[in-house]
Amino acid sequence: MPEPSETLRVAAIGDLHVKEDHTAPYRELFGEISRDADVLVIAGDLTDLGKPREAEVLAEDLRACSIPVIAVLGNHDYECGCEQEVTNILRQAGVRILDGQAIEIDGVGFVGVKGFAGGFGRRMLGSFGEPAIKAMVAEGVNEAMKLENAMRQVRAKRAVVVLHYSPIVETIEGEPLEIFPFLGSSRLAETIDRFKVSAVVHGHAHRGCYQGHTLGGAAVYNVAQHIEKPTGKPYAILEI
Ligand SMILES: [Fe+2]
Ligand SMILES: [Fe+2]
Repeated sequence: MPEPSETLRVAAIGDLHVKEDHTAPYRELFGEISRDADVLVIAGDLTDLGKPREAEVLAEDLRACSIPVIAVLGNHDYECGCEQEVTNILRQAGVRILDGQAIEIDGVGFVGVKGFAGGFGRRMLGSFGEPAIKAMVAEGVNEAMKLENAMRQVRAKRAVVVLHYSPIVETIEGEPLEIFPFLGSSRLAETIDRFKVSAVVHGHAHRGCYQGHTLGGAAVYNVAQHIEKPTGKPYAILEI
């Protein structure tokens, strides 16, 4: 067992879906998390419709957070086409929004991309037929490549991967089978398994389940706030 001082306590939550008419929706929770963890990771769907006003409401609540905050965007954060503005507002509030980058905090590397849909295993969508299908597959491949490039930047011995879409099926089980291909892609897991990873967190599947593994053995956690977690709270605590 590592000494406590060598362990980073990472709080992880996803799918905040902040709306513009919400009043301080997460202020209290962020205060609690700051007392409970060393770093907060948010796995996308920060806002409900990707509106700058929603990002401002979240940015205001993040003032209650006194620990470093790392996040990726989710599909909801793209809905209005204002994802750059949403990113800027949150970056100004001190959030490290990752989109294919790696950062290091206290000896732990954090790597983040949104990821994309596409399906799993042998049933993954292939690049065949109409240009629209090929474009969809290309988007998934592109996200996996961004993840790979970011992983190569990690110098730390411990690494946490932050995604919005799921890299595996296990943590989306509980969702309707028909939408599995829209909840993530094995391409992300294939990339993850080329590296040594301490933990992977994702959101997006509000009705999935908490824990699973990639084929290569990397621990994967669905940290969407709706998911039941060992903490009994909307956020997970990972000792990295
Ligand atoms: Fe969500
Ligand atoms: Fe989502």
